Amino acid sequence: VIGVFDSGIGGLTVAKAMSGLLPDYPICYFGDTARTPYGTKSPQTVIGYCLENTRFLIEKGATMIVVACNTASSVAAEALRQSFDVPILEVITPAVEMAISDRRARSIGVIGTRATVKSGVYEAKIAAMAPDLRVHSVPCPLLVPLVEEGWLTQPETRRIVKKYLHPLKTRQIDTLILGCTHYPILKEMIQEKIGKRVRIIDSSIAVVKSLESYLQAHPEQGSSLARKGTAGIFVSDVTEQFQKVAQTILRKRVVLQHVSL
Ligand code: DGL
Repeated sequence: VIGVFDSGIGGLTVAKAMSGLLPDYPICYFGDTARTPYGTKSPQTVIGYCLENTRFLIEKGATMIVVACNTASSVAAEALRQSFDVPILEVITPAVEMAISDRRARSIGVIGTRATVKSGVYEAKIAAMAPDLRVHSVPCPLLVPLVEEGWLTQPETRRIVKKYLHPLKTRQIDTLILGCTHYPILKEMIQEKIGKRVRIIDSSIAVVKSLESYLQAHPEQGSSLARKGTAGIFVSDVTEQFQKVAQTILRKRVVLQHVSL
C-alpha cells in the first residue's frame, strides 16, 4: 500500500486525487484527528507526531509514504527522510514545480496555515529553483475551521477569503499555490476572489502527478505497493463530525477505523 497521512481528515483530498488518477494502488490513510490541528503547533511537536504517524503506516505495510499535510511537509519532511528508509513524498515540492513550470509566472502567492507560512519553505524552494520569481505568503488560519464546519458557501466565508487574498491581489500575483489540504474544497470561491486570470495550483493534484512519474520511473516499487499491506482509513479519534467531513470530501460513505498510536 501507499501510506498517506495528514493531521486529520483534510488529507483525504490528496487520497481522493490519488485514487482517481492511480486507481491500481491501494492506500492506507492515517488521519491524526486526536491531535489535529498541526497548523497552529510548533515544528518540534509536529515532527514528533509525524515520526509516529509514519511508523504506524510502515507497520501497516506501507513501502512508500505520501505526506498529504502541508504543515507536516513543511516542517517534518527532512526529519522523516533521515529516520526512515522508504521513499517520502511531500506536497510542497510538486506544487512549486507545477507553479514555476509556466514560464510566464513572475509573482507567486502562497496561502497556508500559520506553521506552513512561518516555515518559509515555499520561499526557500522557489528561491532555489526559480530565483527570479517573487513570492508572497499569507497565513489563512480561519479557513480550516470554516471548511470543517461545512461553511463552504456562506457569505461570511466569502468575506474572510476576500480579506485574506487582498494583500496578494494588490501585489498582482499571477499564480496562487493552495498550500493546505483544506483549500481545494474552496477552490472555486478562491478563484472568484483572486480573479480568473490567476493560475491556481492545487497541491493535491500536483503531488499525484509527481507520484505518477515516480511510479513510472520505479516500476518494481509500484508492483510491491499494489501487493503488500493493509488498505483503509485509520484515525486517532472518531467523531460524527470527522465522519461527516470525510464523507463531504470523498463524496461517499466511509468507515473510519480507530487506532491509538
Ligand atoms: N492539514 C493541515 C495542512 O495542510 C491543515 C489542518 C491543520 O492545521 O492540521 O496544513
